[in-house]
Amino acid sequence: MKIDILTLFPEMYDGFLNTSIIKSAIDRKLVDIKTTNIRDYSLDKHKKVDDTPYGGGSGMVLACQPIFDAVKALKKDNSKVILMTPQGIKYNQKIAYNLSKEEHLILVCGHYEGFDERIRTLCDMELSIGDYVLTGGELPSMVIADSVVRLVDGVIEEGSHLNDSFNNDMLDYPTYTKPREYEGMKVPDVLLSGDHKKVDEWRKEESKKRTKERRPDLMKKFMLVRSTLKGNISIDKLKGYTLNPKNNAKRNDVITVKNLNIIEQSFSENVAKKNIDRRVQKLLILIMKVLDTDDSDDDVLVLDEADRIKSLLMNEYVKILGEDYRNSIIKKIDYVVREFNNKRRYVYEEVMEKSGKSR
Ligand SMILES: C[S@@+](CC[C@H](N)C(=O)[O-])C[C@H]1O[C@@H](n2cnc3c(N)ncnc32)[C@H](O)[C@@H]1O
Repeated sequence: MKIDILTLFPEMYDGFLNTSIIKSAIDRKLVDIKTTNIRDYSLDKHKKVDDTPYGGGSGMVLACQPIFDAVKALKKDNSKVILMTPQGIKYNQKIAYNLSKEEHLILVCGHYEGFDERIRTLCDMELSIGDYVLTGGELPSMVIADSVVRLVDGVIEEGSHLNDSFNNDMLDYPTYTKPREYEGMKVPDVLLSGDHKKVDEWRKEESKKRTKERRPDLMKKFMLVRSTLKGNISIDKLKGYTLNPKNNAKRNDVITVKNLNIIEQSFSENVAKKNIDRRVQKLLILIMKVLDTDDSDDDVLVLDEADRIKSLLMNEYVKILGEDYRNSIIKKIDYVVREFNNKRRYVYEEVMEKSGKSR
């Protein structure tokens, strides 16, 4: 894997690149990390890289030219360009794992007040390391590079990150080392028993307990995924609102969504109700349009659409929407369709009458 970092302060990386696991990964050629000074690409005779913001305001803004030229010079077909910004998607272990499978990352660090908005168009992804604002993208780029590199094959002992926190949406279990007792605090007996099966069971239980206590949000996800994998619940049996996203997300390198099943009851209900409201509105507009025409073939459109909404309410949305709500909408549709038919009948009778008279 190769990581290029675009920064105004390459010297900030000296310690990072020359210490511990990152240094060893570089020395063993498992990863190649290079910093590039954005200033080197400035075409300005004073090597200026920033300017004041249009419209006024405080701070300096990184300009397009040096960053565009630097990215163009480094980018290849297999590169992923990532912008460091507090406005990006929140970085997490799953993103780290996905990035560790990439061949080439280009991390772009902002500084000062930020960067010219047009620089965003260069990037495949925007990442934030948390909801706070740092002086520059250098620390975020180190956080990302560090967490990605340790997941690259061979960098740390094989399998040793499998129990890391956030893998399988769980927190890691507690660990101890010598001595057996320190200031009255003892190592749990099971860890000294030599019984690997028991140790494994204890660790799993502790990991669960910890996650439940400290991160119940992760635990919920874990329970759902586990019961789905075990076959207790199959995805298509989950009570919820299913939809297929129309477009591939621009950030499909993080996750490609082909099918979404929303199982939070209140959310599903809201989405389903919105869909029904939208369809009923469309039906009313269609009715107005059809009433303006003489063509009786158009009546089928109205009746078809009315049937489609009723079918949604009676089939797919049965589990999501309450009976009272469904009945009230069906009643409304039946009433509207009855009125529509009456009006059409009246119009046809009038037309027939007129045409009979004229004959
Ligand atoms: C002072 S910040 C600019 C913040 C910008 N005015 C805003 O509020 O979105 C300067 C640079 O630091 C980096 N940065 C600051 N906080 C960050 C965060 N939480 N995650 C990723 N990058 C961050 C970005 O590269 C940003 O362009």
